[in-house]
Amino acid sequence: MRVILLGPPGAGKGTQAQFITEQYSIPQISTGDMLRSAVKAGSDLGLKVKDIMASGGLVSDEIIIALVKERIQQSDCAGGFLFDGFPRTIPQAQALVDAGVIIEHVIEIAVDDEQIVSRLSGRRVHEDSGRVYHIEHNPPKNPGFDDETQEPLIQRPDDKEETIRNRLDIYHTQTKPLVDFYKSLAEKDPSAPVFSKIDGVGSLSDVQARLVSALS
Ligand code: AP5
Ligand code: MG
Repeated sequence: MRVILLGPPGAGKGTQAQFITEQYSIPQISTGDMLRSAVKAGSDLGLKVKDIMASGGLVSDEIIIALVKERIQQSDCAGGFLFDGFPRTIPQAQALVDAGVIIEHVIEIAVDDEQIVSRLSGRRVHEDSGRVYHIEHNPPKNPGFDDETQEPLIQRPDDKEETIRNRLDIYHTQTKPLVDFYKSLAEKDPSAPVFSKIDGVGSLSDVQARLVSALS
């Protein structure tokens, strides 16, 4: 199964991806996680994208498309994958179509802007794995530490309020148009992905149940 999770920053893409990838035995491809690893490693790519990410801007389509094309060639993607945070612009979505990559489902997780600011200010992450927690809504067993490795959790540098607002603006202008892109693709092309929109507000398990029903 090949799935795209679409939604604003803080919609719960990474949180729900953890569950879907286990349930369907497919890898999670989070362009955000890949870029954060590059920044942490101090690679050429990391140096190029560090400031853009910290400001909440988008990394160039050229860089992202090359990164994803390389990633989906790897053997673990043979049985499918879940895209989390990709595509994020029309040119990125068009690049998938042009490369003949068949996607079965595009699911938009909808959450209001107001909720997002509170979600992201309480978010904590395990840097190496990308595992996501929330101090109230999804707390780790031991406050401040990852459940699996017991390593300390961090706050993402782009989870400051003014940066969150910038990321939301960019979502509305550059990513939200993908909803119409996929809707009109579905009208023209029988092999286009099925588009569904689910409510991202509620408990983690409620949202999970809505996702499972959209995927079935
Ligand atoms: P990326 O890492 O993709 O960030 P994002 O899209 O802004 O999304 P987030 O990871 O912030 O949110 P999420 O939906 O995963 O929410 P989460 O599950 O963590 O991208 C980062 C940057 O990289 C971009 O700004 C850009 O610079 C660059 N980039 C990446 N991809 C790119 C691309 N394709 N093109 C160009 N540039 C790109 O949940 C959030 C919080 O809410 C957590 O604390 C969680 O515990 C909590 N939560 C989750 N579900 C619920 C619930 N149901 N109720 C209450 N709380 C909940
Ligand atoms: Mg994420």
